[in-house]
Amino acid sequence: MATRPTQATPPRGLPPKPGMLLPMRVWDGPVRLFHWALVVALLTSWLSIEVLNNLRIHMLAGQALLVLLLFRVVWGFVGSETSRFSHFLGNPFHAVTHLMHMTKKEPDTQVGHNAAGGWMVLVMLLVLFAQVGTGLIIADEESFIEAPLNHLVGSEWGAWAKKQHRLIFTGIQVMVALHLVAIFSYAILKRHDLVRPMITGKKRLPAATPQPRMRSPYLALAILAGAALAVWLLMTKV
Ligand code: HEM
Ligand code: HEM
Repeated sequence: MATRPTQATPPRGLPPKPGMLLPMRVWDGPVRLFHWALVVALLTSWLSIEVLNNLRIHMLAGQALLVLLLFRVVWGFVGSETSRFSHFLGNPFHAVTHLMHMTKKEPDTQVGHNAAGGWMVLVMLLVLFAQVGTGLIIADEESFIEAPLNHLVGSEWGAWAKKQHRLIFTGIQVMVALHLVAIFSYAILKRHDLVRPMITGKKRLPAATPQPRMRSPYLALAILAGAALAVWLLMTKV
């Protein structure tokens, strides 16, 4: 059920003038909700263990994060055009050339992730998967902690996972800092506001820009339900 309104339309049905900037939908609702829910789940995992020292909340937030990640992977194959991996993972050399133009002030004509940002998204998703994966098999004999899937690997791997979990967490902190620095740099160096489109879904683009294909939010909901069911089965039946 893909919809493609051909182009953005100017207000009151006026014909678009060449070079005119018009608001266009670049991010669908599911990706925006995914993004901000991911931020909440990550902060909850972090604060629950480091500030509240509450492992129950920590693991619940971590499982919610796993649901979100599974959803995002599937949406990356069947979702709206700008959400698809095939749309934003291109030639890595283009990512390098993109970064080399970082200081150049030019109009923002980007629809979806840029060549460098796309690879960063993949790295972020993989690192978060690694954090959840290690978390699920942790065992600590001293404090009698056993994560839900530790029985699959035993206590030696559990102890190894605990160390990696700490290490990857440091990686996540670096990664989030880089992510924020990148977004800040686009605002300062190029005057590109990437944050507003991640909130509203819309961006002002030249009138001739083709509107990206959007998929039905009901499909997203079905995928989210499937991801939640998969995580529930993993936690209770494996
Ligand atoms: C389903 C997902 C997750 C599970 C099952 C899980 C499980 C655990 C467990 C069992 C511990 C306690 C280790 C111990 O003290 O022996 C722990 C610690 C910790 N987790 Fe997670 N975790 C998950 C996701 C995450 C995520 C997404 C983050 C990122 C914020 C995170 C960050 C941490 C940190 C910082 C610690 C403290 C590590 C230390 O000081 O040694 N975890 N986790
Ligand atoms: C816990 C912290 C955060 C994590 C783990 C995170 C992760 C991500 C991920 C995975 C994406 C890709 C979205 C997708 O295609 O599914 C993304 C995109 C984005 N994030 Fe974050 N994010 C975090 C915090 C923030 C914050 C605080 C802001 C706002 C200041 C922000 C602004 C953005 C923007 C603007 C994009 C789209 C970039 C583009 O136009 O290509 N993020 N983020």
